[in-house]
Amino acid sequence: MSTNENPSKKPGQVETTGHVWDSNLQEYNNPLPRWWLWGFYATVVFALVYWVLYPAWPVGGSFTKGLNTITFMQDGEEVTTHWNTRSLFAREMQSGKQAVRQREMLEQVGAMDYETLLADVEAMSFVNAYAKGAFGTWCAACHQTGGGGVIGQYPNLRDDHWLWGGTAEQIEETLVLGRIGYMPGYRESLDGQQLEQVASYVLSLNGFAMNDVDVAAGGEIFNGYLGGCYQCHGVDAAGLASLGAPNLSNNIWGLVDVPGAANDEERVARVARFVHQGVQRHMPAFADRLSPAEIRVLSAYVHSLGGGQ
Ligand code: HEC
Ligand code: HEC
Repeated sequence: MSTNENPSKKPGQVETTGHVWDSNLQEYNNPLPRWWLWGFYATVVFALVYWVLYPAWPVGGSFTKGLNTITFMQDGEEVTTHWNTRSLFAREMQSGKQAVRQREMLEQVGAMDYETLLADVEAMSFVNAYAKGAFGTWCAACHQTGGGGVIGQYPNLRDDHWLWGGTAEQIEETLVLGRIGYMPGYRESLDGQQLEQVASYVLSLNGFAMNDVDVAAGGEIFNGYLGGCYQCHGVDAAGLASLGAPNLSNNIWGLVDVPGAANDEERVARVARFVHQGVQRHMPAFADRLSPAEIRVLSAYVHSLGGGQ
């Protein structure tokens, strides 16, 4: 290896350069290992090539752009820029293998009718994967991650209790058109006692043991001229999807926090307060923000969440 073999070197002793100062001061000879040197030269070559091809050095207020370019679509036009990760990402999203496959699947699924789609295991696994992301982007802010909703504010989409109906077609209509859920308040037409009576009636439909006299009086209000509740909720309180009026007899509560009440008195008070106030809620329309295929995928997904009708 070295040309300066130290003749006095014993096995295991480090080699020296052969120079001696002050009669006993010697200099070790430890050349860099060859693999290390070649590695070093390779990084130098790599850096030079990199500087030529890619953005590298700051120059004034700008930087050297490199020779490498990226072409991608922006607002329907083809744009070519110097290499940068943001454009690289844009191109991946447009023409990457994944993206192309995803678009093809979306087109396929968008063209299927719901009956075929919901029964197709492979298509539904695509629906689940795609819709999870889309739901997070467009829906979770209100309906929460996973679609559990917030009682009194945003409907739970995971149960099989629906305001506007739970068939895939009805869900699609909800997404395309948006919905306005409206129930008038009864501030003027019902007094405190009547409100408690009608509340007792509604609670009795859900299996709560209420005062019989109140329930009878409340039933008359609900199904009669004074309350007219039946006009929206139906005579048997089973709900009316065309008005977004929920079933009031399945003990599922989307607006009044009945499950959170400690006792019957509080349950009556909560339902009575709700009927007194009424409510208006708004589900935005998505027809102008999502493509028909995306709406189809989301509708199938929401339908599958609650084991929809
Ligand atoms: C700004 C808040 C908001 C956003 C965003 C939103 N929703 Fe809603 N959504 C609501 C409200 C409020 C209602 C209840 C409307 C009513 O009272 O009738 C609702 C109702 C619904 C219903 C009807 C439920 C039923 O029981 O019939 C479905 C289905 C639904 N949303 C799905 C979605 C999906 C899917 C998205 C995302 C694409 C979404 N929502 C985005 C607020 C929102
Ligand atoms: C004009 C139609 C209409 C009338 C009349 C009406 N409701 Fe409603 N009711 C609705 C709608 C719509 C909702 C759901 C609102 C929403 O989702 O934003 C609702 C919700 C409710 C709820 C909440 C259920 C839950 O899941 O928490 C109760 C309780 C209720 N109504 C009771 C009554 C009673 C009692 C009367 C009569 C005194 C009445 N409603 C009259 C349309 C009506």
